[in-house]
Amino acid sequence: MKKKLSQSKSSKLNALLIEADTIKKQIRQETLNQNELEKKYFSKKGLFSILSKQMSSIPIEDKPMAGKVINHLKNDLKEYIENLSDKSFDPLIRQAKIDLTVPGKKPNVGHTHPISQAIAEITKIFERIGFIRVRYPEVDWDWYTFGSLNMPTDHPARDEWETFFVNQPAHPKKGKIVLTPHTSNGQVREMERVGKPPIRMINIARCYRRQQDVTHTQMFHQFEGLVIDKDINIQHLKGTIDYFAREFYGPDAKSRIRPFHFKFTEPSFEVDFSCHICGGSGYLIDEHSKEKTRCRFCKSGWHEVGGAGMVHPNVLKAGGIDPEEYTGFAFGWGIERTYTLREGLNIDDIRLLYSSKLNFLQQF
Ligand code: PHE
Repeated sequence: MKKKLSQSKSSKLNALLIEADTIKKQIRQETLNQNELEKKYFSKKGLFSILSKQMSSIPIEDKPMAGKVINHLKNDLKEYIENLSDKSFDPLIRQAKIDLTVPGKKPNVGHTHPISQAIAEITKIFERIGFIRVRYPEVDWDWYTFGSLNMPTDHPARDEWETFFVNQPAHPKKGKIVLTPHTSNGQVREMERVGKPPIRMINIARCYRRQQDVTHTQMFHQFEGLVIDKDINIQHLKGTIDYFAREFYGPDAKSRIRPFHFKFTEPSFEVDFSCHICGGSGYLIDEHSKEKTRCRFCKSGWHEVGGAGMVHPNVLKAGGIDPEEYTGFAFGWGIERTYTLREGLNIDDIRLLYSSKLNFLQQF
């Protein structure tokens, strides 16, 4: 009878077997990662540890059997935990919440602002013919902005640029502080930096003027070229402008200079580029009816882009350069206008460029 009893499983052993089976099933439902499972099952207070402690209360004759069960369970749990591959993703994968074969969502990647793109391109075009990009202060003294550019103190020319004056004490020699209304403040600064010509700079910077309407923003950009060397003449100026027109607008683009007046250049010019919509003719011919209509984009075949001229001897002197020995040319154009012309953009309101409106900016 006694023997028979010992052959049948004791209730303690039975309970142990059931519990081992439960643990074995339970671990497969867990959503924890390897470390967390290790802790939950094998730490001192872990589920497996608690179970194995029950060995001491198992009747002696059942101990071999219980030992086997516990060993099996241990190996099974260890193997299961070890085989979980990626610690962090595994629980989710096992729950089939992630399908790794689904293509990922592309993050929204922006791009540089159209004006920054234009700046990079203009810089490259001029670098190819030996210009160096420089940058000068956008808040500067009257001296660099006007005085050194052959505009005597209180000359009304300061008003032509709709200048913002900064409410700060004036410098005893360099005068009032202004937000630069053009990039020409870089001219004498570059002469001072280089000392002795040759100079070939392209200065690209922000400019500020008291104008805000559909064709003007109070902040805009200009790029200013300055070349000073021996025997520099108007042909060099015209050749450089033509080169830029071809590079930026395409091989058929042409430039034109018209007499104008600036205090800091003599002679001075306004610079036009041929309209690349009508090819500079001022007319568009309808493909079907062959009817000739005025180009809506330019009206005359040309677009005015900015100013240029031969550097005035007084400006060279202000920069410490002898006008008897050296001559030079300079030009200054707005980037916004130069760029929007190329894109064939008749933007109704140029302020859109700085409006942060993504549906507009994403087109470039
Ligand atoms: N600074 C002039 C402007 O803003 C442009 C210019 C630059 C003209 C260099 C001549 C030479 O209108």
